[in-house]
Amino acid sequence: MSASEPEITYRTALLSDYDGVMALGSIYGGRDYLWSLYKQLITDPDKYGIVAVVDDTIVGFYMTSTFDGGRTVLKRSGRVSEQFRGRGIFHRLEAELDKHTLQHRPRAMYDTFANTEREEHLGGKFLEMGFKEVYRKGMFHMIFKFSNLPPLGLNGGDNKQMKNATELTRDDVKLIFRTEDVSRQLFPSQRLLNCYMCYRLVDDNIPYMFCERGGAVCTLQDFQYSSSSSSSQKLDNDSVRHIAMVTFYYCYPTPTGFLYYLDAYAVKGVSRDHFHAHLKKNLEILQHYFPKQDGVVTVAYDGNVPMEHVASCLEDAGMTEHMKDQERVQILYERDRAACGFPVEK
Ligand SMILES: CC(C)(COP(=O)(O)OP(=O)(O)OC[C@H]1O[C@@H](n2cnc3c(N)ncnc32)[C@H](O)[C@@H]1OP(=O)(O)O)[C@@H](O)C(=O)NCCC(=O)NCCS
Repeated sequence: MSASEPEITYRTALLSDYDGVMALGSIYGGRDYLWSLYKQLITDPDKYGIVAVVDDTIVGFYMTSTFDGGRTVLKRSGRVSEQFRGRGIFHRLEAELDKHTLQHRPRAMYDTFANTEREEHLGGKFLEMGFKEVYRKGMFHMIFKFSNLPPLGLNGGDNKQMKNATELTRDDVKLIFRTEDVSRQLFPSQRLLNCYMCYRLVDDNIPYMFCERGGAVCTLQDFQYSSSSSSSQKLDNDSVRHIAMVTFYYCYPTPTGFLYYLDAYAVKGVSRDHFHAHLKKNLEILQHYFPKQDGVVTVAYDGNVPMEHVASCLEDAGMTEHMKDQERVQILYERDRAACGFPVEK
């Protein structure tokens, strides 16, 4: 360190660091979740945050989240104050998180993080670090204006054709995960990537998906419910085999309006009606949480969900304006810790 270089220290992020971390500035083009979720994340024992500090001012933040019952550690939310970039702070934050994982997550088998096409040029570097791309999906970030919603909602011209999209329960998702031939078709990479967070198909992850302002919706094909109250129908061993599409949602407020994430998965060859019905249901849910408000709807779609269906249904719902300069692809990288020489507790 030269005499003019300030000393940079690293320590665990605290609840009281909220203002300091927010002062680093919003990332993700104003869609930053830390603004509303920092306190919840930082007090969750499955998460761990680290800050870089210069003269009592926070100049960097990065955190891990643990999934898959302790088997996977995801890094996210990294940021360094513009003024201090290019001095290796991000690398030190990474190293501090790795140290924490070694000491406190001894069962972790996988390290993972999600990026976008913007960082695709770093793929070679990630490969050298032992990471492989394991999943990718397309996304749209749409400006949602309540006043642009069609007056009759998204019912389409012919209600009889409308698929019935119903909310799933935690038990329903457990059943989907356990019904292997179904989950293989719906989630061919055997992972979910929802809001940049990755989940293997294990029950331990279900509470992360069914949380405050989070849940899932499904549509079936070639199936008639026997009862009339299909909106509250639970899946059973028969109906689960008819699932055509599942969407997971999660939403939160940001300083510039709400952000509603919708992650869609489907079996191969689904018709457009399915995404249409999902979008309709999700817009109802959105209205429940953020009535009459404006915001952003981010739709991330798996390879089995045709992009044209997503684009045209969004248009039907009055969402034609893309957020400026937004990424179009989410890419999940993962490395096997044991294969990279890290000790892993059985
Ligand atoms: C990305 C960012 C955190 C880098 O901070 P920094 O302190 O300047 O980073 P460092 O000086 O340690 O070095 C930059 C390194 O980060 C790497 N990097 C940049 N973006 C990255 C990303 N999204 N994921 C992983 N590594 C990344 C670069 O390849 C470089 O590595 P190298 O020195 O081995 O080539 C900073 O530019 C930033 O805050 N950007 C806005 C937020 C953001 O994009 N975060 C993405 C990470 S979640």
